[in-house]
Amino acid sequence: MAQKAIGILTSGGDCPGLNAAIRGVGKAAKGAYDATFVGFRDGFRGLVENRLIRLQDAELSGILTLGGTILGTSRDKPHMMPVGSVTMDMTDVAVANYHRHHLDVLVCLGGGGTHKNAHRLMKKGLNIVTLPKTIDNDVWGTDVTFGFDTAMGIATEAIDRLHTTAESHHRIIVVEIMGHNTGWLTLGAGLAGGADVILIPEIPYDIEVVAEAVLGRSRAGKRFSIIAMAEGALSEQQISEQKQAEKKAKKKKNKDQLPSPEEAVAASARLARQLQELTRLEARVTALGHLQRGGVPSPTDRLLATRLGTKCAELIHQDVYGVMVAAKGEECVPVPLDEVAGRRKTVPIDHSWIRSARLVGTCFGDRCGTLD
Ligand code: F6P
Repeated sequence: MAQKAIGILTSGGDCPGLNAAIRGVGKAAKGAYDATFVGFRDGFRGLVENRLIRLQDAELSGILTLGGTILGTSRDKPHMMPVGSVTMDMTDVAVANYHRHHLDVLVCLGGGGTHKNAHRLMKKGLNIVTLPKTIDNDVWGTDVTFGFDTAMGIATEAIDRLHTTAESHHRIIVVEIMGHNTGWLTLGAGLAGGADVILIPEIPYDIEVVAEAVLGRSRAGKRFSIIAMAEGALSEQQISEQKQAEKKAKKKKNKDQLPSPEEAVAASARLARQLQELTRLEARVTALGHLQRGGVPSPTDRLLATRLGTKCAELIHQDVYGVMVAAKGEECVPVPLDEVAGRRKTVPIDHSWIRSARLVGTCFGDRCGTLD
């Protein structure tokens, strides 16, 4: 079989496990299947700008435990790329650079946005394979994404630490957790860390219900509360305000748009202030932010990234393209990119994690406090 030429890039927000995945693809592709391997810098921008590095044994060594991405990343999209002061469609340039290097396949490591961009390039005739990464765990078609386990560990440890100080000061602590518009990270860390209230985008909350949960704890002699709040969580009131604003502007809010740092901080600060007013308990906010994306990947993420990466090399060897390599149970399987692109995996409101949380008495800020 002819030697394959593989290109790889990492796109979107970074996460722990990206280097383990690059290493997995590269070592298997080069060692077992004799492929050549190059990496484009800074996501799709590097492909457009033709900035690449040869990934030899030296570059693939010693990176299993390294956080971030040795290739760099960006949120740039080939079809809408800022070039100087204008935004241009650079898709044809990306396609031309793929051919210029006689690539057989481009491997794209990323989350929801990356899958849409990779799919666009697939439609232009490129052979594409993707791997699902993100701390948000919101990629459709895979049981789990790499990066999620590490971030959940970091957020859980933060909740553990906040417990002791909240208890000492008899405070409410609102801990703001990332996750874009999904609640996986907050739900996982909140449940593992024993948060008293968990607020996620999938379940609009009522501030009165949250305040009542805190007051109920006070009445039971527990004079502190930990509220795990997803950055995308919204109250029923905020949702109705948003709907009215959309009606007025005759335009729907783009659901993919990230809240600005000011908006995210304002939402948790507003929640803390409202709770302080309603409960007369002192409230504080801790926003975990990018801490959740930094540092060494957990063993679970290293394992997942290596399994997905090596399976990716195997699929390329078999000429299987136009797929995402997904984790399904104990297996890694190809899922058509056509099915993945443009979809998001949100938390089902009857998910077993939510049922368990409710059964241990966690409040979700809705009126469905008891199970039927
Ligand atoms: O998608 C990963 C993520 O960390 C989200 O949880 C968060 O909303 C976003 O990226 C933050 O993006 P940035 O690093 O561009 O501020």
